[in-house]
Amino acid sequence: MKDFTFEEQLDASSQDEIRTILASANAFSSREIEVATELVRENLEKGSIRSGYFFLLARDKSGRMAGFTCFGPIPCTVHSYDLYWIAVYEDCRGMGLGGNLYLKTEAQVKKRGGKKIYAETSGREDYRLTRNFYQGMGFKELCRLEEFYAPGDDKVIYGKTLNTIRTRDTALRCPEAG
Ligand SMILES: CC(C)(COP(=O)(O)OP(=O)(O)OC[C@H]1O[C@@H](n2cnc3c(N)ncnc32)[C@H](O)[C@@H]1OP(=O)(O)O)[C@@H](O)C(=O)NCCC(=O)NCCS
Repeated sequence: MKDFTFEEQLDASSQDEIRTILASANAFSSREIEVATELVRENLEKGSIRSGYFFLLARDKSGRMAGFTCFGPIPCTVHSYDLYWIAVYEDCRGMGLGGNLYLKTEAQVKKRGGKKIYAETSGREDYRLTRNFYQGMGFKELCRLEEFYAPGDDKVIYGKTLNTIRTRDTALRCPEAG
């Protein structure tokens, strides 16, 4: 990932940059994109800890935001985190950036004491690559809520326990997990 740099701090242009990345996915409704940018506003107004919304941004060599994650502790849980968003600019996908962003996010969650991480997405055919991505990152499909979003559009909930490092075909115990 030498072509990208990673940072956590949002600034005044982050809302527009995140809106542009999500619009490039051609998958999210304008309401969903608004919800994502509201999380940016919350972070800018209150900071990561008070808002509960942490961000990790990837920038390419020109300084353009190429991808981001938004994650945070799930209220009223001891050590569960939600991966609210992960998205990579359309022309940077399939090059390992999403995986890298995810692994750095997971490291942040672990550093903050997180033990479980959850992500949810659509069961529609046009989200098949996204579901493959989560599975490749070691997430397990936990449940499907049929027709949750709309007729023919299930919600699929994925989860991962963070004391193991899982690659596509092996599961290794973390040294620190003993
Ligand atoms: C899902 C997403 C974040 C993955 O990022 P990425 O940089 O493409 O992922 P990587 O290159 O690290 O990993 C590629 C793997 O992800 C999956 N993948 C998902 N979308 C992909 C795409 N558009 N192109 C290629 N691979 C994609 C594939 O399974 C691929 O594994 P493979 O190479 O073994 O087939 C990105 O494709 C994206 O932004 N999608 C649209 C937004 C979205 O659906 N976000 C998640 C729901 S909030």
